Amino acid sequence: MNAIGNKSRRSLCALATFAALTVLAPSAMAQDVEPVSDLLATADPAQGQTLTRQCIACHTFEEGGPHRVGPNLWDVVGRPKASREGFNYSPVLLELGGDWSFEDLNAYLANPRDFAPGNRMAYAGVRAVDDRAALIVYMRGLSAEPVDLP
Ligand code: HEC
Repeated sequence: MNAIGNKSRRSLCALATFAALTVLAPSAMAQDVEPVSDLLATADPAQGQTLTRQCIACHTFEEGGPHRVGPNLWDVVGRPKASREGFNYSPVLLELGGDWSFEDLNAYLANPRDFAPGNRMAYAGVRAVDDRAALIVYMRGLSAEPVDLP
């Protein structure tokens, strides 16, 4: 009798934990960005260039191009984050640290607000992982010395 009581109490507890996790899931899942590294070798830079139409209101991509609302994005892959001279980055972006690796760029482009809460890129994000791969592979090519693919 006692054993059964314990058992049902335990499963009730498991149920409560499950319910709590379900409630928390949406915010936890938002940070779960599908990785892009395996897609880069076959991603199409031309498709990426087309997708930059979503960016050019705020960014230029050519070497020596001016900053707009956002910084110039020539040679961004593998470069230290928030390091473009003459652009007034938010403290949030300045404090991220490290280089723009493929996967950090992937996460930032998927959801700028989740990756760097409080940063100033007012852009919803690129939903499809294939589109992010294409964009990143295009941006990788915008460099005198493109970094190696993973
Ligand atoms: C509404 C304007 C806007 C749009 C649209 C936009 N960005 Fe940005 N972006 C910004 C701003 C502003 C920053 C700087 C954020 C900060 O300092 O907090 C930024 C920063 C960045 C950075 C970091 C650069 C660095 O020097 O560290 C990357 C990479 C980037 N954007 C890529 C993109 C791409 C790719 C797109 C299109 C898919 C895009 N952005 C669309 C405004 C925009």
